[in-house]
Amino acid sequence: MEIIHVSAECYPVAKAGGLGDVVGALPKYQTKMGHNAKVIMPMYKTKFLYKHEWLVDFKGRANLGSWWFDFTIIKEKHNLLGFDLYLVDINGLLDREKIYGYDDDPQRFTAFQICVLTWLSHWQHKPDVVHCHDHHTGLIPFMMKYCYPFSMLASVPSVITIHNAQYQGWMGWDKSYFIPAWDSWKAGMLEWKGTINPLASGIKCAWKVTTVSWSYLQELRVNSNGLEALFEYEKGKCVGILNGIDDDVWDPATDTYLNHNYSVETVTEGKEANKKILCDRFNLDADKPLIIFIGRLVGEKAADVLPDAIMSSMYAFPKQVNFLILGSGETHVEWQLSQLTHSFAGNYNVMIGYDEKLSHTMYAGADFLLMPSRVEPCGLNQMYSMKYGTVPMVRSTGGLIDTVKDMGEWQGWGIRFNHASVGDITHSVWRAIEVYKDGTHFNWMRQHMMQIDNSWENSVQQYLNIYQSLQ
Ligand code: ADP
Ligand code: GLC
Repeated sequence: MEIIHVSAECYPVAKAGGLGDVVGALPKYQTKMGHNAKVIMPMYKTKFLYKHEWLVDFKGRANLGSWWFDFTIIKEKHNLLGFDLYLVDINGLLDREKIYGYDDDPQRFTAFQICVLTWLSHWQHKPDVVHCHDHHTGLIPFMMKYCYPFSMLASVPSVITIHNAQYQGWMGWDKSYFIPAWDSWKAGMLEWKGTINPLASGIKCAWKVTTVSWSYLQELRVNSNGLEALFEYEKGKCVGILNGIDDDVWDPATDTYLNHNYSVETVTEGKEANKKILCDRFNLDADKPLIIFIGRLVGEKAADVLPDAIMSSMYAFPKQVNFLILGSGETHVEWQLSQLTHSFAGNYNVMIGYDEKLSHTMYAGADFLLMPSRVEPCGLNQMYSMKYGTVPMVRSTGGLIDTVKDMGEWQGWGIRFNHASVGDITHSVWRAIEVYKDGTHFNWMRQHMMQIDNSWENSVQQYLNIYQSLQ
């Protein structure tokens, strides 16, 4: 099958979070299974762009209302990622340092989607499916069905995967003229609660909707930032498919970011060597358990609870545990986390920023990974940590429910708790300290979770079944 993935992120081209990881891996595994998967995304100013060779695939002209612009679609020359990668270059609009966070994001992503469909409508043949990811590509199913210039694509199935329903891409109706000539009787297919809502539109218009875990799909019907009734209404076309992890990138035995590689057999020594690197660099106590947090410092991840929860744990269990944080996000959380270094030097440290190499060393060198997320559609961190023998400490929500079994259960290997609260986190830290002391059991947990199969193969087949059902 020929599958077109449309996304704002794709690792290693541009990544802000898990969406990038997924779009960098899913098409690769689809290609490995004999399909022709392609990814098309905006051309940002990234290192990847300047380091690789590109061919011009298409040159076109499009408009956002009365503003006409030229665009170019370039293709990576050597198929380095294991699938065809295309970038859309719109001078001045997409070619910026950051992926998101500009005032004109609605214009940027609407223009991107228009370019993608203009490109596809010039093909001599039609792809088998257009697979959209999150709200940045949510207008595509609508435009394929109801925009006159793209009417030749109306018979092509579209699928949208929801990685995160918190962000929906809301736009005022004053921006409706950005969308190329469309059937105005279909305004309701763009709208949710008084505004144009690209994510809601994607859910209404795509032929099939997927979410990145089963439990998240259930949650969306009661908690989805205003879309609850829509998920309830459309439940018949929604399916949960758990993400996988890309073993080419995330395997402690071959990970090129690690100074000390290890396998299930050598996990104890391997993790000890990586832990030493972290403890030396961040002035931590290598004899005590090391709990890490890696992620965006935002409310969804319950990052605002971290400073108090860490302080409470440090007072409850003085010098018995270390914390190391890597992340960036809300300024006041960054500041509070930085302040704690003064009080707990020797057992606590933080690195504000984004650092891919450090994140790999942390998954490898830590004993526990904390994820108190309020919302976690799938979560990749806990799957990476399991693969690296690092015990996940997670709040029972979304994909964390589907991937982590509490150590209190038969053959469980993780720590689960119910509330993103200081009390629940401090209690989980106590459980972590206690199980760490029981070397034999702790080692069993590490080895057990490293062997859990969270690879893409199974999920890829589920996506293929969906595409097939739409033909
Ligand atoms: P989300 O996409 O909601 O941020 P996921 O758990 O799906 O959460 O994926 C997060 C991804 O981003 C993981 O690959 C994680 O290692 C990475 N990541 C998040 N923050 C950082 C950071 N500050 N430095 C390096 N990697 C990070
Ligand atoms: C989103 C979610 C995260 C998920 C990722 C990849 O960013 O917040 O839980 O793992 O997408 O699907």
